[in-house]
Amino acid sequence: MSVNLKGRSVLTWLDFTGEEINYLLDLSKQVKTEKAVRNKRFAGISVALLFEKRSTRTRCAFESAIGEEDGNAVFLSTDDIQLGAKETIEDTARVLGRMFSAIEFRGFKQSTAETLARYSGVPVYNGLTDIFHPTQALADMMTIEEHFGNCAGRKLCFVGDGRNNVARSLIVISAKLGVKITIICPNALSPDSELLEACAPLWLKSGGSCEITSDINAVSGADALYTDVWTSMGEEAEKTERIRLLKPYQVNNKLFEKTENSRCIFLHCLPAIRGEEVSADIIDGPQSLVWDEAENRKHTIKAIMLATLGLV
Ligand code: CP
Ligand code: NVA
Repeated sequence: MSVNLKGRSVLTWLDFTGEEINYLLDLSKQVKTEKAVRNKRFAGISVALLFEKRSTRTRCAFESAIGEEDGNAVFLSTDDIQLGAKETIEDTARVLGRMFSAIEFRGFKQSTAETLARYSGVPVYNGLTDIFHPTQALADMMTIEEHFGNCAGRKLCFVGDGRNNVARSLIVISAKLGVKITIICPNALSPDSELLEACAPLWLKSGGSCEITSDINAVSGADALYTDVWTSMGEEAEKTERIRLLKPYQVNNKLFEKTENSRCIFLHCLPAIRGEEVSADIIDGPQSLVWDEAENRKHTIKAIMLATLGLV
């Protein structure tokens, strides 16, 4: 069966099959090899980039991917447009859908991304919401596959705030692709049971597994250790409490030793705070693949746009 993603939005990987995600991973790797080739696949295409929250990688991945193939990216922060302020999200969606081929949205509510998708009539890409960061998870899987040759069956340990957008997206994509994910976090920051229940049948199908534990010794046998900031955007009021809860969960040399795997790699979506969720020697050390991972944001985002805009 050939995969056709034309017209699809990417709001969460829950909406995609493992086969579709694998197709996007293959396309991302192909796109990466074309780096030096001058393609013009986005000629005549304009994409609106809506940002309620700050971004370096996601914004630059979209802008550089579109721009280098002759497309047009229009950056719109909520200081610039009426999104939900003087105009309903539905009305903004209807207008943007008449002018743009696709819309990227980064912000607080997942429901905003869903409303944009429902009313615009064009593909909408979730560039991060409070509960999901799907384009990040695709780049993470690409980085694991590039390094190990595959991601299915690999043991991926996420250590930190287990209920945040990055952890939740890793859980979903792992369930779809057969990754053995372990979320290591204090009990107070465990992923919600609703998400785990939605993924439960997926593990059976893909052959992956999911373990949630507060025990840092669970990193034993890990192929990859992954962490993210302890305080996500929009949760700044929680910072002091987060540091208190997560201090024992820093990814550092001692934790790497507990993996008992000298080939274990380090991943982080970035931005990172050295000295909080990760020690400087780990993120800047030989086991760290964070710069490949950041670069892969661009290739995966380009692949998503090519596939959903029907340009492949
Ligand atoms: N990883 C990531 O989404 O980075 P930005 O917040 O810089 O976009
Ligand atoms: N969990 C982080 C991810 C940043 C890319 C946040 O939401 O701020």
